[in-house]
Amino acid sequence: MRTIVSRLIQSHSLPSRLSSEGLLRNGRLLSTGSNKVEETFKVEEAETVKPEAPEPEKVLVLGGNGFVGSHVCKEALQQGLSVSSFSRSGRASIQESWADSVVWHQGSLLVQDSLKNAMNDVSAVVSCVGGFGSYSHMYKINGTANINAIRTAAEQGVKRFVYISAADFGLVNYLLRGYYDGKITAVSLINLFFAGVILRPGFIYGTRQVGGLKIPLGVIGSPLEMILQHAKPLNKVPVFGPLLTPPVSVTAVAKVAVRAATDQVFPPGIVDVYGILRFSEQK
Ligand SMILES: NC(=O)c1ccc[n+]([C@@H]2O[C@H](COP(=O)([O-])OP(=O)(O)OC[C@H]3O[C@@H](n4cnc5c(N)ncnc54)[C@H](OP(=O)(O)O)[C@@H]3O)[C@@H](O)[C@H]2O)c1
Repeated sequence: MRTIVSRLIQSHSLPSRLSSEGLLRNGRLLSTGSNKVEETFKVEEAETVKPEAPEPEKVLVLGGNGFVGSHVCKEALQQGLSVSSFSRSGRASIQESWADSVVWHQGSLLVQDSLKNAMNDVSAVVSCVGGFGSYSHMYKINGTANINAIRTAAEQGVKRFVYISAADFGLVNYLLRGYYDGKITAVSLINLFFAGVILRPGFIYGTRQVGGLKIPLGVIGSPLEMILQHAKPLNKVPVFGPLLTPPVSVTAVAKVAVRAATDQVFPPGIVDVYGILRFSEQK
């Protein structure tokens, strides 16, 4: 009997797991009456299970309390992401309510290993850490600090890395060598570990918070952007051309940075000012 049932099952091509484990193990039930077969197949009324919403992607903003970084945090929150920041002073003086939704880590990128914890489960990092000063200070903050972050991100399995670098300003590059040397070194390391995105804005305008003061840089930046974005050919003129790079708003930089950090089909590589303007206008 057992063999016949087994053959019947195979010839009706029931799923193999059902035939070999379910029915045969219960072969005794099949042979003792049809009511038992129904019993075997009786399906309890299904309970409606609400599918769990997927966890939002986690983005870590390095320098999330700075001018660009704070706008990146705000944009990422608006996109429904889970946002954390890492900087020496943590939340610092930001009083606005959006800051309550950010996890603020405090530490220096120049201190090895202090960043590991902040990178747990993070899928993308946006680095807004940079600054000016002496050659060695500029190299350290734009280069070494970011190099430490890139290495840690690679070790921790972070998938995407976005770095806010700066446009080429020709003559100015020479005067700010530490700034540009640091940035170039950081970018070359990003390219080793990630299909990273490097934004190269010129002057960034918007409202910059300095202590309790809000400085509206858009008063100069916005009209200049209007004029200079149409003077792209002049930008190619040697020596002085790069000085005509159009300014770009901090909201545009933040929008493109967050998109680059989360959109898997965002093209890796360098995005110059014109690219930032173009991407920021896309929906
Ligand atoms: N603003 C512009 O017009 C402009 C133009 C082109 C490119 N950029 C680039 O854009 C990026 C952001 O510029 P920004 O104007 O927003 O600068 P910012 O306001 O000075 O912000 C710099 C951020 O870096 C953090 N930071 C500095 N040293 C750190 C360290 N050792 N460890 C951890 N965090 C550190 C600062 O926070 P703590 O002080 O609390 O550590 C701050 O959050 C920079 O890379 C800059 O070169 C800016």
